[in-house]
Amino acid sequence: MSAPAIEFRQVYKSFNHIPILAGMDFTIEPGETVTIIGGSGIGKSVTLKLIVGLLKPEAGQILIEGEDIVPLAEDQLIRIRKKIGMVFQSSALFDSLSVAENIAYPLREHTAMSEQEIRKRITETLYLVGLEGAEDKEPADLSGGMRKRVALARAIALTPRIILYDEPTTGLDPTNTEKINELIVDMDRKLAVTSVVVTHDMRSAFKISNRIGLLDKGRIVIAGTPEEIQRADLPLVRQFVNGTMA
Ligand SMILES: Nc1ncnc2c1ncn2[C@@H]1O[C@H](COP(=O)(O)OP(=O)(O)OP(=O)(O)O)[C@@H](O)[C@H]1O
Ligand SMILES: [Mg+2]
Repeated sequence: MSAPAIEFRQVYKSFNHIPILAGMDFTIEPGETVTIIGGSGIGKSVTLKLIVGLLKPEAGQILIEGEDIVPLAEDQLIRIRKKIGMVFQSSALFDSLSVAENIAYPLREHTAMSEQEIRKRITETLYLVGLEGAEDKEPADLSGGMRKRVALARAIALTPRIILYDEPTTGLDPTNTEKINELIVDMDRKLAVTSVVVTHDMRSAFKISNRIGLLDKGRIVIAGTPEEIQRADLPLVRQFVNGTMA
């Protein structure tokens, strides 16, 4: 049996003595698409940043494919980050760079690929996100949905084994929301990745997830398939499912 893709073991993280994660345990298996839901400021983005080692916990273990990344120094974390693509809450594109150069950025940073290989990879990733031919566009000229897709193209450029999405559909209209949801499902099918999606959007969560986990008071208080979550009678879950907490 292969190691879990991601495993949190008794993870504690606080800021200025205010606990955010308080003994979080959570395991995500290879190939799963897991959505994390929870109130604003509860620690969802912090959880994603811990997975890529942008933040360090005070205690606990965070295992990526069986390896605890908590003790790793910055130069070792680079090796881990190559396995993980992250689509940030703000698309975080470089506005001074073209779409092509945004996607090329991690390739130039982390690989010895030739210009020709880089160009080919840019074409492939833009095709995967449905933006073929957008190489020379400037991020400023793109709609919110297109920016998200370029951010996704950049995240998959290094062919990661894990993709993290922080609120990929927030602020998008229903058509673009649908497109992004289809892309997330598509990435799983085409690239066989493990996906962790943070979202406020329960409709999206039900549509794309193998499992949904609810983060509250520093822990995943319930995790289950969309059907299980739909049936759960925990009051907080009901608030999310009924849309009064989204
Ligand atoms: N680098 C930081 N320094 C200090 N406090 C931080 C830092 N990052 C996050 N926090 C605090 O930790 C808490 C959790 O933040 P986080 O960004 O994970 O929330 P969230 O669940 O993603 O919320 P939202 O749904 O609004 O994006 C917040 O109170 C936030 O202010
Ligand atoms: Mg957040």
